[in-house]
Amino acid sequence: MSTTANAPKHPPPKHATIDESVTVPYPGDKLDIPGHETRHDQGSRTHRTLKSFSMEGKVCVVTGAARGLGNMFARTFVESGCSKVAIIDLRQEDADKAAAQLVSDFESQGQVEKGEIECIGLGCDVANEAAVQAAFNTIVQKFGAVHAVVANAGIVENYPALEYPAERMRKLFDINVHGVFFCAREAAKHMIEKNIQGSIVLIASMSANIVNYPQPQMPYNSSKAAVKHMAASLAVEWAQKGVRVNSLSPGYMLTALTKAVVAPHVGMLESWAEKTPMGRVGDPEDLKGAIVYLASDASKFTTGSELVVDGGYSII
Ligand SMILES: NC(=O)c1ccc[n+]([C@@H]2O[C@H](COP(=O)([O-])OP(=O)(O)OC[C@H]3O[C@@H](n4cnc5c(N)ncnc54)[C@H](O)[C@@H]3O)[C@@H](O)[C@H]2O)c1
Repeated sequence: MSTTANAPKHPPPKHATIDESVTVPYPGDKLDIPGHETRHDQGSRTHRTLKSFSMEGKVCVVTGAARGLGNMFARTFVESGCSKVAIIDLRQEDADKAAAQLVSDFESQGQVEKGEIECIGLGCDVANEAAVQAAFNTIVQKFGAVHAVVANAGIVENYPALEYPAERMRKLFDINVHGVFFCAREAAKHMIEKNIQGSIVLIASMSANIVNYPQPQMPYNSSKAAVKHMAASLAVEWAQKGVRVNSLSPGYMLTALTKAVVAPHVGMLESWAEKTPMGRVGDPEDLKGAIVYLASDASKFTTGSELVVDGGYSII
């Protein structure tokens, strides 16, 4: 038998490995990237529109909202009528800054009256159960209730499974799985105590259902599968307590960070687009309708569902 019998037919993929010495600065502070646009062609409507989609009167909380998709979700709620929003992120200063920026953008664009919306920033590591409890207590003290919560904070790392450092795998699960659970549980406790018909949205990923290639990211993919099934399991437990829990699974979304990360890998973005039936990667704005649907009363008979928004990537 040839010694090359077990050799792979194809050369191993070039993994998008993490080089600890390289840091990718988050691109700029300016919110001039897709997903952060709060004033665009569709704009606000004064015409007839389905009332159940309105976030008016609802207190919304988004974790990991200092930037990226989370920041866009918080802004989307404001665009849809919410006037009390809490931004949770790892560092207090980032959360404060994002909260102040959100208010000033909406006010300066004339979309809201001065003082009409309140946004608070809370520094909190979602992997820390006590910190999550304290953050939700602060929000309830400040705003009186919690109606819609998006557990969005999450991280991704790439290491081949054979080399994945155990402590990093634990860290990823602490944030992506346990952190999501701590936030969902705290939200549900407050909703149930105050008899609120609340909605909790857990941000999973299409990676809950498919394996990304060639990026080696087994813990991330498994964590997102856990998040998807966590939503279904919590939905069943809380269905008769008035709390709905669903998951939202985005495909490849071109956030400012994704842009910076793929930039050095020639052809990666094109290959993602090629594998997507719709022929492009997602713009964060593509998630706006989905997040409002799941967080609002429009989805009041939807619980335990996964809403996949990936341009068809995971169906082929
Ligand atoms: N961008 C995509 O293409 C994509 C696709 C599918 C799913 N997702 C999921 O969407 C979510 C947001 O992704 P993103 O691309 O906006 O990421 P991002 O890295 O731009 O933003 C994540 C935010 O979460 C915060 N965060 C990280 N760890 C935290 C912790 N322990 N406690 C509190 N906050 C913490 C970060 O500071 C950051 O502000 C993640 O759960 C991600 O897995 C993203």
